[in-house]
Amino acid sequence: MRPALAQKLKPFGTTIFSEMTKLALEHQAINLAQGFPDFEGPREILEAAKRAMDAGENQYARSLGHPRLVAAIAEKYRAIYGLEFEPMSEVVVFCGATEGIASSLLGLLDPGDEAILFEPFYDSYPVCVALAGATARYCTLRFPDFRVKEEELAPLFNAKTRLLLLNTPHNPSGKVFTREELELIARLCREHDVLVVADEVYEHITFDGVRPIPIASLPGMRERTLTLSSTGKTFSLTGWKIGWGVGPKELVAAAQSAHQYVTFAVATPFQVAMAEAIGRFQKDFFAQLQREYAQRRDFLVGVLREAGFEVSVPKGAYFVLADFTRRFPRAKFGDDRAVAKRLVEKHGVAAIPPSVFFAKEPEEGRRLLRFAFCKRMETLERAAERLRKIGA
Ligand SMILES: Cc1ncc(COP(=O)(O)O)c(C=O)c1O
Repeated sequence: MRPALAQKLKPFGTTIFSEMTKLALEHQAINLAQGFPDFEGPREILEAAKRAMDAGENQYARSLGHPRLVAAIAEKYRAIYGLEFEPMSEVVVFCGATEGIASSLLGLLDPGDEAILFEPFYDSYPVCVALAGATARYCTLRFPDFRVKEEELAPLFNAKTRLLLLNTPHNPSGKVFTREELELIARLCREHDVLVVADEVYEHITFDGVRPIPIASLPGMRERTLTLSSTGKTFSLTGWKIGWGVGPKELVAAAQSAHQYVTFAVATPFQVAMAEAIGRFQKDFFAQLQREYAQRRDFLVGVLREAGFEVSVPKGAYFVLADFTRRFPRAKFGDDRAVAKRLVEKHGVAAIPPSVFFAKEPEEGRRLLRFAFCKRMETLERAAERLRKIGA
């Protein structure tokens, strides 16, 4: 019999998250591998969803998004970033940013097109480029500062380049792209008539006074950028899967062309609840979120250093990349996969081996591990007890 799996998905296998979570469960390890909070989002938002269900908001929503949610999203971009989007035609609600990435790339890319990706990348990017029949070109960002180098980025642009996929604040590095880097990317995209799909799901999780700059706010970029984001990270309700895209009508319509056949519409009561949350939880809530995550970041960074790791201190998102080679030399302990496995089995802490987030230069990830700090302090403290023993 012919193998069941389609050829186009063959290179990708199962996600590293499933693999590490399974291993963590087998060894009762503390799971700092998967990037979801082990605490609840605000109770008021849960109550709002229950009220929406009781009020009969239970049938298919409008495909582009519930009118209340698209209005709340448009208002948010106006108030926070000074970016105007017409709610009924320039906003689309997705089943999480994950569906947003898939529908946008399916709607914007044709076979033969090229897409520029930064590596390390969020793992769905190359898969969605492949599903769209296009080819990915990679610009490698390197530990510890993950700086964008013009001499490496510029040569990737050519007549086939259709879009560049940008993620800031960045998973897994915690990098927040600087204005200079965004201006460079914007200039190259304008010169080569290239679109940008900007994944900004961690827009409200930044540290040390760093503010992420939406690339859509740079001159000449609003008309060529589809900005994706999600409520999952901001409101610690990743299981609700409420995400969106905002951009010029043509780009939203292209993503919507795929979205209408992929999910058609997204869970109605959760959209209504999120419309309320976006309107209600603003400045003070974000400030509190940042303070709490900064505390967790500082704690985990300190512990990893005590354990003998070299750390790249994140400016955003909720991950830390750490070089383990001083404590676990490659020659003796092997690469990131081997050390991640050892950490689970011998030390009871699960992390992600990030070489899987590189396609062109996986060697860049083979000396690193990614730890998530979107966990209760109590979870981090339990992980710390175990990690400190490594350094002892
Ligand atoms: C960079 C990035 N984009 C998108 C997503 C997925 O977002 P959602 O949960 O809204 O689908 C994640 C989740 O980890 C992410 O890290």
